Amino acid sequence: MTLTIGVDVGGTKVAAGVVDADGTVVTTIRRDTPADDVARTRDTIVEVTAELAAGYQVDAVGIGAAGWIDASRSTVLFAPNIAWRDEPLRDYVSDKVGLPVIVENDGNAAAWAEFRFGAAHDADDSMVMYTIGTGVGGAIVLGGELVRGTNGIAAELGHLGLVPGGHKCGCGRLGCIEQYASGNALVRFARAGARQEPHRAERLLGLAGGDPDRINGPMVTAAARDGDGVSCEAFAQIGTWLGMGLADMVQVLDPQVLVVGGGVVEAGELLMGPARASYQESLAQRGRWPVADLRVAKLGNGAGLVGAADLARRR
Ligand code: BGC
Ligand code: NA
Ligand code: ZN
Repeated sequence: MTLTIGVDVGGTKVAAGVVDADGTVVTTIRRDTPADDVARTRDTIVEVTAELAAGYQVDAVGIGAAGWIDASRSTVLFAPNIAWRDEPLRDYVSDKVGLPVIVENDGNAAAWAEFRFGAAHDADDSMVMYTIGTGVGGAIVLGGELVRGTNGIAAELGHLGLVPGGHKCGCGRLGCIEQYASGNALVRFARAGARQEPHRAERLLGLAGGDPDRINGPMVTAAARDGDGVSCEAFAQIGTWLGMGLADMVQVLDPQVLVVGGGVVEAGELLMGPARASYQESLAQRGRWPVADLRVAKLGNGAGLVGAADLARRR
């Protein structure tokens, strides 16, 4: 059975793996993303790819990258959370490792894996997915294929405008859903809550050594699991915004399945409870017709690399 390599480059982690045609991951490597250093990010991708290619007979490489990819799937045009600007990733990596490479948006790659092998594998037509990590990713599958748009940048669902005049986004706009429903937003909400109501954030502040500025995502999750008020509230806030975004996508596309993935869904019902409630409340004329099932991604952190590897196989 032929093997391909998938590399998922997010705002925080690079995850790479060798994957077979059934989506089974044979082996993986993880590194931190040097997100503000383009040269080191590029070299990290080459290093993990070369290391995997040395150990396995592989045909091609798929890179899922957290940015806007051009229609030829070779260049990262722009990335809100990584310093990429017109980054010719495909040719750089392909020249160094001597294998065919495709570059895909990371949200698209993760969604493709969930559609083929994960939470939506029973759907044959349509799916919308949000990924909640450092940023908010998105993907749309219609007629069994990813929607990439004319210029390759369709389904940037994290940059739907949600709050007029709202928080400044890494994309340059104000009030994108990414600023309200991402892992970064979770931390921002939790820090603000801990400053305003420290008595409701004792558990969280304990983990952060008493300093709100040291609060990070895993601390918010751990504290929320212990019932910390501010931390639970921070999850409720991002979940509520997410639910509104999901309802909007139903109004646009009426898909078979909605999936929520990305690192933050490891928090389970802390996120999905408020998201589901807000999704249902936000649907126009709710109850009058059936709407898409809201599901949690099944493939966890591996989704991006599995999808990228499968897309490389189908290049
Ligand atoms: C980027 C997307 C990416 C998402 C998740 C967003 O900020 O615009 O391209 O898919 O983050 O990494
Ligand atoms: Na996308
Ligand atoms: Zn934005």
